[in-house]
Amino acid sequence: MADDYVWFEGLPFPVIGYNAEVIKEVCTKFVIKDEDTVMVAYPKSGTNWLIEILCLVHSKGDTKWIQSVPIWERSPCLETDVGYKWLNEREGPRLLMSHLPIHLFPKSLFTSKAKVLYIMRNPKDVLVSGYYFWSMTTLSKKTESLEQYFKWFIQGNVPYGSWFEHIRGWMSMRHRENFLLLSYEELKKDPRSTIEKICQFLGKKLNPEELDSVLTNSSFHVMKQNKMSNYKMLPETLIRNHFSLTRKGKCSVFPYERHVSVAVVLPAGTWGKLIQCWRGGWFWRW
Ligand code: A3P
Repeated sequence: MADDYVWFEGLPFPVIGYNAEVIKEVCTKFVIKDEDTVMVAYPKSGTNWLIEILCLVHSKGDTKWIQSVPIWERSPCLETDVGYKWLNEREGPRLLMSHLPIHLFPKSLFTSKAKVLYIMRNPKDVLVSGYYFWSMTTLSKKTESLEQYFKWFIQGNVPYGSWFEHIRGWMSMRHRENFLLLSYEELKKDPRSTIEKICQFLGKKLNPEELDSVLTNSSFHVMKQNKMSNYKMLPETLIRNHFSLTRKGKCSVFPYERHVSVAVVLPAGTWGKLIQCWRGGWFWRW
């Protein structure tokens, strides 16, 4: 288990697969092309679920790709050593994923026509999911308890830093034509309509059978069984006890009750941040 993080510009990153020099190169040199599709999320917000959906939309419901290629190869993570290398070598339209906060994202994105999909999830579930995930991997600083992880989460002392800052930063893109804001909660509540919205945004027309296949094959239970998507192929040196990325896949907070649930889990010190975010107008809109 790691003692600390890889640090870049004051932001903590996991210790395996990341390197400050590479992250610097990504931020300053990587060129996003107009034909790229970019998925962005704070870790544990449903990133891999969205990747699975996009891969299936891309293949019009055909499952060959998702059943033969690991998810991290289908949509490489831009800021990792291997993801950056793969993406640089890839020709044609690329599917790529990133957890970077907006201020570190390659500037070429902001002048490109690339389609950007941002998925957010309520902080309570992100926190719990992150606690289990980082505890079961050797990628990050060791946490002793959920209480300790909670404090770190609020302070931004977890991989990729503050959830608050991440969301606030990316929300500034929400009025752009090439930006689609999604939430884990809406995907969970009404996956069919949300997938239709994604197809419309991407300009992809799927017939009803193709759409059914996307829906079925990106469902929690099917993804949990897919070894190309559930992270079970990762070695024991990275993930312990065959921990699955698809842990519970539940929402403890639905839109209409989210303010109550978030309020219950927050200690007094975090109210300032929340009020600030609420005033910013982004927090309750999903
Ligand atoms: P839990 O740990 O709460 O179960 P990310 O891909 O950003 O790391 O997010 C991981 C979270 O998304 C996990 O949440 C995981 O179970 C959930 N997830 C992955 N695939 C899913 C699916 N098909 N349906 C619902 N949730 C899914």
